[in-house]
Amino acid sequence: MAPVVDYSLYLVTDSTAAILGQRDLGYVVSEAILGGVTLVQYRDKTIDSGAAIEVAKKLLSICNEHGVPLLINDRIDVALAIDCAGVHIGQDDMDVVTARKLLGPNKIIGVTASSVEEADKAVRGGADYLGIGTIFATPTKANTKSILGVHGLRDILAHLSEQSETHHHIPTVCIGGINASNLQRVLYQSFTPSKPLDGLAIVSAIVAAPDVRESSRQLRRLIRTPPPWALLPIPTEHSEWSKTASTQALLDSIPLAIRTVTEKKPISHNMTNFVVQNFAANVALSTGASPIMSTNGHEAPDLAALAGGLVINMGTATPTSLENWILAVTAYNAAGAPVILDPVGCGATAPRRATLRDLLAAGYYDVIKGNESEILTVARVSGVAGIEAIQQHGVDSGASGLDLDGKAEVVRRLAGRERNVVVMTGVVDVVSDGVRTYAVSGGHEYLGMITGSGCSLGTVLAAFLAGNRGTGDKLAAAVAGIALFGVAAKRAGGREEVRGPGTFVPAFLDELFLARKDIVAGDEVWKKMVDIQAKVPS
Ligand SMILES: *[C@@H]1O[C@H](CO)[C@@H](O)[C@H](O)[C@H]1NC(C)=O
Ligand SMILES: *[C@@H]1O[C@H](CO)[C@@H](O)[C@H](O)[C@H]1NC(C)=O
Ligand SMILES: *[C@@H]1O[C@H](CO)[C@@H](O)[C@H](O)[C@H]1NC(C)=O
Repeated sequence: MAPVVDYSLYLVTDSTAAILGQRDLGYVVSEAILGGVTLVQYRDKTIDSGAAIEVAKKLLSICNEHGVPLLINDRIDVALAIDCAGVHIGQDDMDVVTARKLLGPNKIIGVTASSVEEADKAVRGGADYLGIGTIFATPTKANTKSILGVHGLRDILAHLSEQSETHHHIPTVCIGGINASNLQRVLYQSFTPSKPLDGLAIVSAIVAAPDVRESSRQLRRLIRTPPPWALLPIPTEHSEWSKTASTQALLDSIPLAIRTVTEKKPISHNMTNFVVQNFAANVALSTGASPIMSTNGHEAPDLAALAGGLVINMGTATPTSLENWILAVTAYNAAGAPVILDPVGCGATAPRRATLRDLLAAGYYDVIKGNESEILTVARVSGVAGIEAIQQHGVDSGASGLDLDGKAEVVRRLAGRERNVVVMTGVVDVVSDGVRTYAVSGGHEYLGMITGSGCSLGTVLAAFLAGNRGTGDKLAAAVAGIALFGVAAKRAGGREEVRGPGTFVPAFLDELFLARKDIVAGDEVWKKMVDIQAKVPS
């Protein structure tokens, strides 16, 4: 039996000048261990065996001194020569069965896997752990045959958890572009209750760091801390929330959520859509939020620190938009401040789908809000399984869209995959956090006849999530924002002077303001204007 190993912070070395620079590898490894690295792999694809053995011997004595195991990448001869803990082999290297014959049963053999097939094969061959990757594209590894992304990683973990005991128990780490800015998201979004990752393999975020010990310490701290935007507790199919999806409790929480926004006046920072700017800003003001318009990503860290919410609206994307959006989502994620993704028209063209893919890979979105076709596009890009089957079953008679159960299923699966809240807007809005799913109806038909109503709902959601961060319940905050929006529309549409969409607009702004005041004051008439139904998966 190979020894029990702590895989949590796994250093993979890189001796190339671009990463290691002029530093001594032994120094880097010992600093990394002092900072908290728990396992080291010596990787150098170009060095010849004699020189590799010299370096490996030196690393082994450093590792031994601190009681940390050393593995050698690919070079079984080197591992045998210095008698270290084991090897790590890639798909292009020797196969695991042959490696085992050479190394015997007591050495660790790790295998790279970038698909479920490769993972299965490695487990059957007797691997001791799997290195799953590549997660993100990196400049260090030019030959990255498959970029898995966080979702690809989660698919492999989910697959392993459903196979034999051996599959289920094999330790797993992930590798490829992991650093301090994406580590918590990788752990959070790849989390499968029955098969959590055992560790993260890190190359340049340690080897190329200006202060190796401090960077290792920071990475170790981040591994142990839930991300600042995490839902507590993380909803899973097994959590209490799924059983107690009480609609009454949700309804009862709405006035407080609205009052909190009114009191905190959170910033709703939108990066967008020039078409609807004025209207959306007015909606934000009437809702009690403070709108800010800034498309400059470099301003985002300062704005994120003000604890507001960010809306990324893909409506009027320009070639520089993506870069600014990524700067902004990174800053808001780091601050734990909510980000709303409004993927307007994301399915319309190939460049928009590519932009959507890049955005999803670059950050975490607390809420993704879109209409039916937009959410279906996001679900496909995110890799949600079974969309076609839902579409075949759930088509509304006559209309081209999904029926309510179909919508609820798509929204639930996408939210479960992204570990966030998804809102599908329509005559009935469907909202889910992957566990609890609700259909919210109300509003007024005029809302669908004016430009900017969808975009301004994004602004409202940002304000409600930012204002209600303290509760940890993003779904309830989103539902409260949607409910206020709907109640205001209903009240506006029912006004005597409102004759159509044109007169509706000012009345709607008035009613956002007035309905909010009434609800906060304890008036209960609003409860008759909005209907919230729990949708339980069939
Ligand atoms: C972290 O890694 C990602 C993906 O590889 C990269 O895009 C980003 O620039 C890195 N961040 C830092 C601070 O190095
Ligand atoms: C964003 O905020 C700015 C500043 O108040 C406002 O002018 C703009 O209309 C808003 N846009 C959207 C889409 O929310
Ligand atoms: C969704 O919104 C997009 C962009 O605003 C629009 O082109 C599309 O027709 C809408 N689709 C549905 C199903 O409402």
